[in-house]
Amino acid sequence: MLSRVVPIVPAQPPSAPTIRIVGIETSCDETAIGIVENGRTVLSNAVASSLKLHEPYGGVIPEIAARMHVETIWDVLNQSLSDARLSPEQIDAIAVTQGPGLPGALLIGLAFAKGLALTLERPLIPVDHLAAHLYAGEMTEPTIEPPYIGLVVSGGHTVLCVAHPDCRYEILGETKDDAVGEAFDKVAKLLGLGYPGGPVIDRLSDEGRAGVVALPRVQTKQPLDFSFSGLKTAVYNYVQKHTEDLAVGSELGAQEKSSQPPAPSPERISVADVAASFQQAAVEILIVRTVRACQRTGIKRVVVGGGVACNRRLRSRFAEVAVEHKWQVVFPPASLCVDNGAMVAGIAYPLLQRGRVAALSLSSNPNLCLV
Ligand code: KG4
Ligand code: ZN
Repeated sequence: MLSRVVPIVPAQPPSAPTIRIVGIETSCDETAIGIVENGRTVLSNAVASSLKLHEPYGGVIPEIAARMHVETIWDVLNQSLSDARLSPEQIDAIAVTQGPGLPGALLIGLAFAKGLALTLERPLIPVDHLAAHLYAGEMTEPTIEPPYIGLVVSGGHTVLCVAHPDCRYEILGETKDDAVGEAFDKVAKLLGLGYPGGPVIDRLSDEGRAGVVALPRVQTKQPLDFSFSGLKTAVYNYVQKHTEDLAVGSELGAQEKSSQPPAPSPERISVADVAASFQQAAVEILIVRTVRACQRTGIKRVVVGGGVACNRRLRSRFAEVAVEHKWQVVFPPASLCVDNGAMVAGIAYPLLQRGRVAALSLSSNPNLCLV
């Protein structure tokens, strides 16, 4: 087995304060490569998404995602280097998402990262994708310091944790069934809204009346765990019962094309009403657990990361909670919430400082979860 460790030799003398790391992210359908200076300053954040190719299937097809990574990763690296106005030799270390994610997709990023590390003779830094989502909050708001409560809300994960100093994480709760992003995507699919569901439910909810459809908040055995499948099933049952009234799909088409959304009639429940009611319930499930986690630990700082952190209702509800409890709540900008390479490059800086570098025999770990 190959076990060569690439020496940790930064391209510049040790006294030089600037460390530039390239971060490679291929855990799902985005081929993303970012370059970040000293863990904070984003020099570039290039992304090629294969999302359009997955749309007809209503979800990510792993084989297609992996093929697209192979086809685009070289161009994405060049784009990222050119955006940062750097040559490969000016990069000090190579960071890569080790997991969690789609096995085939992860392998392509990892193999590419190893090739770069070997050729440039730079250290290879393995990164946990979920930790990177949280670190995006630290890149956004340098005043937020561990320990803080981290809430990762993505298409594959819903995890509540304490982020400790030294890049250590203590898991407080996680979903027992669907991830919250998955619930958004599935509910959008059954409402005929297409894929990915999160952004379209977010938009459509502006035209709906949240709470007009009564939906359950499923309790879990552990108060800090999450469950979204009961909520999703309740939406499914509602849609089955009211298919004709709702005119699923076609009504949305009409609403999206019209510049002026129709005024909701008090007696008729629209697709937008169902979307808004679902979004309200999903957001409340996240808020309630996070409030419990803060109260239980006494920690008054929160970082929310992952694709669902783009959701405007989640952001506005957390802003209210922050004012009410006098907490510091940080949401990264959308470009650092969805999958991106900058967050991988960012977190690699404190990891490199702690010597967390890997041998070239490094394996991907599709099930990694904040270890
Ligand atoms: O973190 P991410 O980009 O990929 C994973 O690591 O899974 O998250 C993707 C998820 C998808 O489920 C997508 O529907 C959801 O994030 N999402 C949203 C919004 N934007 C993206 N969910 C709710 N509201 C949004 N605005
Ligand atoms: Zn993600």
